[in-house]
Amino acid sequence: MSRLRNYPHFERQSVFSASQSDLWTMKGFIILAFIVSVICPAVYMQDVFVYGTLKKGQPNYFRMENTSNGQAVFLARARTVEPYPLVIATKHNIPFLLNAPGTGQRVYGEIYRVDQKMLEFLDKFEGCPQFYQRTKIQLEVQDGDAEGENTLKPGSIEEAFVYRKTTYESEWLQKPTYESYDANGDHGLKYIDSDTESTPDTSSATQQNTAEPIIMRDSVYTGCGTAQCDMTNPQQ
Ligand SMILES: *[C@@H]1O[C@H](CO)[C@@H](O)[C@H](O)[C@H]1NC(C)=O
Repeated sequence: MSRLRNYPHFERQSVFSASQSDLWTMKGFIILAFIVSVICPAVYMQDVFVYGTLKKGQPNYFRMENTSNGQAVFLARARTVEPYPLVIATKHNIPFLLNAPGTGQRVYGEIYRVDQKMLEFLDKFEGCPQFYQRTKIQLEVQDGDAEGENTLKPGSIEEAFVYRKTTYESEWLQKPTYESYDANGDHGLKYIDSDTESTPDTSSATQQNTAEPIIMRDSVYTGCGTAQCDMTNPQQ
């Protein structure tokens, strides 16, 4: 219930001077705080599509397997319904799915079902919302040809969260695009782990964002997860 401290006006008001509608507002806050602090962590599971270094065999996959970060259960390999530019950028050679549907390729990745703890870990790890923005994306489930362990129906269309870039320099659109990211691919742009930093290079990302913002979505709090990280994409 410590989250009530997030609402300063709640604390300032005396209960005895509060009007009826204020009392209802307070009840709303108490119920919301209860949901966020008790119910969300217990039952809240979300699907997340990973297309870069968090995939199996890629340099950050170990973070998905680390239960100290939370739970992540592999569901299926999948491919975006729409094409997007998947580019490699910054001095750390970080893969980015740019929110520019219709250009680039349909991108391959993996869907994981994650608990609240893992979602909050990923929000922090991805530097959300400054560095990447978490939005929803449409996916076509692939055949489980690689490992035969898909638990979603091949060919079905699923929606999942994805960490992508809704703001970027326009010159990033000139970069080569990839349909399936591999840190050791023949592009030669090997991923440079900045493990000493708790989040990726957010300072330079902020500068890139201000250079030439293209699209910035409204942020919508859906009740669970890291509030300021949750974005919706009205185009999907
Ligand atoms: C798992 O994550 C915890 C917390 O971040 C960390 O202390 C630990 O070293 C990690 N373990 C592995 C095997 O990466």
